[in-house]
Amino acid sequence: MKEADRAWLDLDYKPKLPKNRSMGIAIIGAGEIVASCHLPAYRMGGLNVVGIFDLDKQRAQSLATAFGLSRAYGTLEELLEDPDVKVVDIAIPAKAQPDIARLAARAGKHILCQKPLAETYAEAAAIERACREHGVKGAVNQQMRWSPGIRASHTIMQRGWLGEPLQATISVNVKQEFANWGWLREMPTLEVMYHSIHYLDSIRFLFGTPEYIYADGARFPGQQTVGETRTMLHLKFPGEARALIHDNHNHIAGEEDWHATFRFEGTQGIIKGTNGSLYNYPIGREDTLQFHSKLIHRDYWFTPQLHGKWFPDAFLGTMGELLRAIEEEREPENSVADNLETMQLVFAAYRSMQENRPVTLQEIAQEETDSLC
Ligand SMILES: NC(=O)c1ccc[n+]([C@@H]2O[C@H](COP(=O)([O-])OP(=O)(O)OC[C@H]3O[C@@H](n4cnc5c(N)ncnc54)[C@H](O)[C@@H]3O)[C@@H](O)[C@H]2O)c1
Repeated sequence: MKEADRAWLDLDYKPKLPKNRSMGIAIIGAGEIVASCHLPAYRMGGLNVVGIFDLDKQRAQSLATAFGLSRAYGTLEELLEDPDVKVVDIAIPAKAQPDIARLAARAGKHILCQKPLAETYAEAAAIERACREHGVKGAVNQQMRWSPGIRASHTIMQRGWLGEPLQATISVNVKQEFANWGWLREMPTLEVMYHSIHYLDSIRFLFGTPEYIYADGARFPGQQTVGETRTMLHLKFPGEARALIHDNHNHIAGEEDWHATFRFEGTQGIIKGTNGSLYNYPIGREDTLQFHSKLIHRDYWFTPQLHGKWFPDAFLGTMGELLRAIEEEREPENSVADNLETMQLVFAAYRSMQENRPVTLQEIAQEETDSLC
């Protein structure tokens, strides 16, 4: 195939970076996700991480040494007063995030928050208000949108190759022990809040905002955590589009039977693929993707090879988008304001589980608006 003929098949899924990569970033939290994803991704993208802070000074110091960062701050104030820091990357448990996000915004720093944004909708909305009040950009590290399979699916859908989008299905059946994170053990809201939140955000990215969610959550006999570890989520969009997320984190047999698949269907096409990061745990593998579109060929399935993984490559997508938004003086695609709709879905899912009924996003948003009046 000639180069020009092949260009239209480029699915444009790789994270994009700012022209100026020297903007100073400081990280709050030196835990597992920073060591395994934030720092390796930023190093891959040549970003300028100037320092790190953690309540556990030892952890901050050892990551500063491992990644050649010039500063392991002794206090949060020291980090926030550092004029070299333009962006604060927050990666601590959600309970502590709202206060730190507000302090960083007040100090005039742009912020990248970890998911979930907060443990209550009111706190999540308060982070959005703080960013507006202090004129800083706020983004959320909801990075599955930049995983190769989901980004490539977005390109395919944007080109209209699925026709009218009708059905999204994400199905996951793996063994992953949430109890390995001590602070997750007692969390009453677990799987949706900490894992399927990625699927909710990715489906919203591809299909738009749903009207309502109908959710069920269950536990596995003898599990070490308090919250739900098996969920079934049904989303209804305006018109005929629907989505289904089915996640079980308690697979009882060997890895050869695990699966983590996605499938997006429309009137003219189908995309199907696997989410590589959930296979071959903890190393992962590259995503796979196949698509068929009647608008291109009657019965051909394209199988483009995707490079890169959700963990850690997609972490360059979220930070890259925030840095580009700062450079281009626009709102980031993964803004805190945008993420509030993902949070509405999460809190609507839990209300749906409690009350056994579909819950609209509007119901969650309206309560917050009413509480401010
Ligand atoms: N985006 C993703 O896909 C993804 C994946 C895993 C974890 N996470 C999120 O990242 C965050 C951290 O997860 P982790 O796996 O690194 O946890 P972890 O337990 O390994 O590390 C958390 C770190 O935060 C530090 N910390 C806690 N409160 C602090 C505070 N007030 N100030 C400074 N440091 C503080 C702790 O000392 C610890 O070192 C969580 O919010 C989690 O939900 C996101």
